[in-house]
Amino acid sequence: MQETHKMKEEITKEDYNYEPFADTEEYRRVNRECINSWVEIMKQKGTNGLEGVLDVATGAGTMVQLVFDSLPESWKKAAVLCLDQSSEALKLAQSKLEKTVDKLKLVHSSIEDMTIPDQSVDIAVWGNGIHYLSAGDQLDSIKRIRRALKPGGFLFFNTAFYEEARPAETLPFYRTQVKTAVQYMRDHGIKRQKTDAKTEAAKFLPRAYYESLVEEAGFKLVDAKEFAVDMHKEAWEYISAFQQYAAGALRGYPIDDAVNAMRDSVGPDLAIHGHRDKDDSPYITRKWLAISAQA
Ligand SMILES: C[S@@+](CC[C@H](N)C(=O)[O-])C[C@H]1O[C@@H](n2cnc3c(N)ncnc32)[C@H](O)[C@@H]1O
Repeated sequence: MQETHKMKEEITKEDYNYEPFADTEEYRRVNRECINSWVEIMKQKGTNGLEGVLDVATGAGTMVQLVFDSLPESWKKAAVLCLDQSSEALKLAQSKLEKTVDKLKLVHSSIEDMTIPDQSVDIAVWGNGIHYLSAGDQLDSIKRIRRALKPGGFLFFNTAFYEEARPAETLPFYRTQVKTAVQYMRDHGIKRQKTDAKTEAAKFLPRAYYESLVEEAGFKLVDAKEFAVDMHKEAWEYISAFQQYAAGALRGYPIDDAVNAMRDSVGPDLAIHGHRDKDDSPYITRKWLAISAQA
């Protein structure tokens, strides 16, 4: 039990090592596309300004940065609440966003425990984080977000961890990566230690589930879109080195070794399974789901 707790703590503390992946061109492009479509939806629905924005699972603040890049100039006076369970992430977000956002407030809390006043924000954005929660916690959290939204406010979220995110033809890439990484462990004499460790693994729930989830929480589903992203070696290396990703793929191994093994497996694996772009660089396509809902 103690081991499990320690491992969870280690990962929570180090969550901010997601930043290198969040800085890749592929990641920024797909999230920008999601956000542009969300801003279009708000305009189409007659929104003409924002007072309060809630950013759930802020991380390094990437979503807020991209939202502000995409908002009409006159909407940028909005106050922004950045919520994350990792204080390291919030520190990083603050340093990245202080030039962009005048009214920035940091909320150190999990979404499950969020207590912000009812009807206090116009939109909530939850980028790349909903899949960490169990289905029950997702529903409770979305209901909580709905209470925090003003009537007619919007919830926007996206994820690359849902059932259709990995097209069938790309599955051999994931299998080979884990196989190669396990071989790396053998070659380095590293043994599985924490067989009872319950790392929060990404949950691959289907698109249809997310569409009905928002309705179950009392929202109106406004839009669900999927974006395909051709991810190259650097992006795969960064996501594979993200501790939560590596720990989910290689359960029970020491986290630093899991990170090294998963990252080092990307190159040889892509050479076997990757498609080739016009410059002959290998890539694997991943899909992102973007959901828009209105309170
Ligand atoms: C993958 S990052 C996403 C960051 C950012 N939203 C983005 O889209 O780039 C996930 C972030 O979610 C935070 N997080 C994970 N589970 C959470 C929870 N239950 N409540 C609040 N934050 C959470 C982590 O601390 C981490 O900073």
